[in-house]
Amino acid sequence: MPKTYVRLDEVSATLPSAFYYDRVHHERELRQIWHKEWLLVGRADKIAAVGDYQVVEVGDQSVIVTRGSDHRLRAFHNTCRHRGSILCQNSHGNFRGRRIVCPYHAWTYSLEGELTATPWRLEGGGFDATRFPLYDVAVGEWAGFVFINLDESAAPFGDQTLADTPALLANWNLGETVTAHTLTLDLECNWKAFWDNFNECLHCPIVHPELCRIVPQFREGLATGNVVRGDGDTSSPLVEGAVTWSVGGKTELPWFEGLTEREQSAGATFGVFPPSGYVVVHVDYARLVHLLPTGPEHTRLTVSWLVPPKTMEHPAFSVEKLIELGETVVREDGRASEINQMGLRSNRHKSGVLVPQEIFVKEFHDWVRERLNDDD
Ligand code: FES
Ligand SMILES: [Fe+2]
Repeated sequence: MPKTYVRLDEVSATLPSAFYYDRVHHERELRQIWHKEWLLVGRADKIAAVGDYQVVEVGDQSVIVTRGSDHRLRAFHNTCRHRGSILCQNSHGNFRGRRIVCPYHAWTYSLEGELTATPWRLEGGGFDATRFPLYDVAVGEWAGFVFINLDESAAPFGDQTLADTPALLANWNLGETVTAHTLTLDLECNWKAFWDNFNECLHCPIVHPELCRIVPQFREGLATGNVVRGDGDTSSPLVEGAVTWSVGGKTELPWFEGLTEREQSAGATFGVFPPSGYVVVHVDYARLVHLLPTGPEHTRLTVSWLVPPKTMEHPAFSVEKLIELGETVVREDGRASEINQMGLRSNRHKSGVLVPQEIFVKEFHDWVRERLNDDD
């Protein structure tokens, strides 16, 4: 079947190099992007029980995500209404007795954020506890993925929030999956350097020898999105005999049920949640890559492998085998993003150039530019 190639018509400039290291610019991106967009923060199964919590640091904003007595997810700024102390000092845990107690003067909040006790406070002074609930943060959930939004005026989480990703991945039924393994990597690069790398495959022949054995088009520098299959095309981009992204391309694990023939032959299908991550689904597992900026030149990646619950019980299940290729690839991409970062400070390299295959890098840069322009 004839293929359609998706590419740029003309070369284009990258974002300015300074966007990748300048501290003042980084703070602008935090304000304009990270503190305005819906952000993926993890999987709901990590905060499954009432009172379970996770703390997410988004630049200088610290947020508690927790599950209330009504089993609903809620998020609050990790800041006490008394004099502003931090509430949680750990990155995750469970609020004992379903109470959030400030470690400074023990003001106590319910899991729903109401101020329920103010120990040792003398009566009087016209104090009204109902005026001091925790500062709430918007929360959304889709297929077990948890999202927050720090923008008080953000549109509520709804059908349009994640664009076409829910429809694209619907048949994988990811809400039913469990986390089989998690890997955390602290990278010495700007968060955009990692996305730039994600958005092109020119580096694949050099950086991913193992992956190129499974996906031949990667040897030619063509990303999944650069080559579009026709409507009825169920031919696979994987090498003959391969069915998934594993070392050797085979799997003994059960396949997701309900996938169409086209979905089964796709090799990999990507759902993106910019700026905070993406999920890649295969016939037998899904890989979630979550990122958070930890500084202008630092990014924390959390990679999770998701499988249907029955896979964990399957005799052929092995974490090592499940993660082997994905871990290799993400470490290779992390390293590539770091070497990219290292060269950006040259005072001659004000910006770089994008060639036709890098159309998705261009789209990502335009997405960033758009958000920086409406500075208010
Ligand atoms: S700052 Fe939290 S109780 Fe005083
Ligand atoms: Fe890569």
